[in-house]
Amino acid sequence: MNYTCLVPLFTLLFALFVSGSLKALNPYRHSWELLLQEPSSGPYTREDAAAVQELWLTQNLDHFEAGDNRTWQMRYFRNAKYHKPQGPMYIFLGGEWTITPGLLSTGLTHDMAVENAGILFYTEHRYYGQSWPFENNNLTVKNLKYLNLHQALADVAHFIRYQKSQSANLTHSKVILIGGSYSGSMAAWMTHLYPELVAAVWASSAPLLAKADFYEYMHRVENSLTLSYGSNCTRRLERGFEHLVNLFNENKASDLLRRLNACPNYNASDSLDRISFFSGINNYFAWITQSYSAYLPQLCETLLSQHSSDAESLLTFLELLYTLDQRWNAYYCQDFSYKSMLQLYSESSDHSSGSRAWFYQTCSQFGWFTTTGRSAINTTSGTSTFGSEVPLWYFEQLCRDAFGPEVGPATLALGIAQMNSEFGGHDFDHSLRYRQVLFTHGELDPWRVLGYEGGCQALVIAGYSHVEDLASINVQDSVPMNLAKLRVMSFLRRHTEVI
Ligand SMILES: *[C@@H]1O[C@H](CO)[C@@H](O)[C@H](O)[C@H]1NC(C)=O
Ligand SMILES: *[C@@H]1O[C@H](CO)[C@@H](O)[C@H](O)[C@H]1NC(C)=O
Ligand SMILES: *[C@@H]1O[C@H](CO)[C@@H](O)[C@H](O)[C@H]1NC(C)=O
Ligand SMILES: *[C@@H]1O[C@H](CO)[C@@H](O)[C@H](O)[C@H]1NC(C)=O
Ligand SMILES: *[C@@H]1O[C@H](CO)[C@@H](O)[C@H](O)[C@H]1NC(C)=O
Ligand SMILES: *[C@@H]1O[C@H](CO)[C@@H](O)[C@H](O)[C@H]1NC(C)=O
Repeated sequence: MNYTCLVPLFTLLFALFVSGSLKALNPYRHSWELLLQEPSSGPYTREDAAAVQELWLTQNLDHFEAGDNRTWQMRYFRNAKYHKPQGPMYIFLGGEWTITPGLLSTGLTHDMAVENAGILFYTEHRYYGQSWPFENNNLTVKNLKYLNLHQALADVAHFIRYQKSQSANLTHSKVILIGGSYSGSMAAWMTHLYPELVAAVWASSAPLLAKADFYEYMHRVENSLTLSYGSNCTRRLERGFEHLVNLFNENKASDLLRRLNACPNYNASDSLDRISFFSGINNYFAWITQSYSAYLPQLCETLLSQHSSDAESLLTFLELLYTLDQRWNAYYCQDFSYKSMLQLYSESSDHSSGSRAWFYQTCSQFGWFTTTGRSAINTTSGTSTFGSEVPLWYFEQLCRDAFGPEVGPATLALGIAQMNSEFGGHDFDHSLRYRQVLFTHGELDPWRVLGYEGGCQALVIAGYSHVEDLASINVQDSVPMNLAKLRVMSFLRRHTEVI
């Protein structure tokens, strides 16, 4: 055997090692899936949940096409433990998540049912959790046709009519809808389309304005960091981002990528790969700000405790974030590529997580893309902490690549225009039913900017973020939080009294 024969053999072995053993992890999955989590009800025990029944209701696939008799099974929870005949119906609307018994076992909605002898329901949104219109929740583009706001609101309307028709004990019950985030918006919008079915609504952290370029989101994240900790934190972050951008611009990203254990397929010169990296970091900060606002000061502490320069500290932080679990494991790498981001929304993604379904809803009706392209326009510093690396066209491309050319910018623009003209966007207060809806927002919640924050129908709770007000009243919570909850209770009580 001569020496030259060994060379191909060596190449072959190397190729086997790379393709067979080096497993690619998706660094984007965690934050994105956590952004779609069910709002927290607060802790509850098995006994608390004992009275919650899981039930199913047959729904039409298409509520607006009389000739289409296809149906599917919607899951819902029910807790009738406290109910007295004609007591109010409290219906918590499910959003882009899998429902659990928590919100019917504890939390403010539950407590109001106890106080007012009400019955509790919790509906699961079509295409999420176990409420699948198609077998295996098969989310081909064709099947996604029936995933939109209007079908989902019609599901809720049918649900209310069905429950009322099933029990003489509910005939005169007042219906109170409660929702958080998107499902809070749904609850508010129900008063437009089905006013005869709804007595009052509590919408927590509900966005009302559809909008493609949601550049305000990351500005609000920046403000929330400053509010929670101070400008030292955002200043350091800003320098850290500048440094990262420079590394990419000067073709010096290879050391950075090695430190983050990036997979070899990542191409720092490719704009889609590059934007995905920055969008992934944005999603991490978005998730913390939205769902773990109490952790913001600690996040800043961690950033500031890095004994490196401002420029270096973000890199060190990202190293901790992305490589902590598998730093010493040579068989894994982080796939920061565009392909990895797209994978979250692809047909082969995990459909129980809701990521593809929710992304479809944003690509077709709501937008709400967290860009950083319009950074320099309106911040006090004239710059933006999170850089300006993530433009709107990136999300438009993701929508097209995930759902085909029909779900492009023109489709979205039309969907948004229809949404805002039908429901009024920020002008929700022009609605006839406006006085039946109470909005609550967390001061630190970036979504607040798309909601209704003014007037006596809205409360902004200092020191809290997104849907952090659903749990029961608790002495350990702040006074503003508990006062807001008391106001929610008295508002809804006024609408449940049987005349
Ligand atoms: C649905 O409609 C089709 C055609 O009108 C009919 O053949 C079929 O039996 C119907 N299915 C159900 C479940 O009613
Ligand atoms: C989804 O449905 C399509 C046709 O509608 C079919 O070709 C495909 O195999 C299905 N996928 C799964 C995972 O069931
Ligand atoms: C109505 O309420 C009464 C008294 O609580 C109860 O006995 C009865 O089973 C209820 N009926 C239905 C249909 O839930
Ligand atoms: C912020 O930084 C300044 C100057 O570097 C320092 O004097 C100040 O103590 C810092 N503030 C906090 C809250 O860390
Ligand atoms: C990386 O991306 C650039 C820009 O798209 C492209 O020209 C180059 O060929 C890519 N490199 C590799 C190795 O794919
Ligand atoms: C910037 O802020 C001003 C004043 O608050 C506002 O009128 C303007 O619409 C804002 N511009 C953008 C692009 O948000």
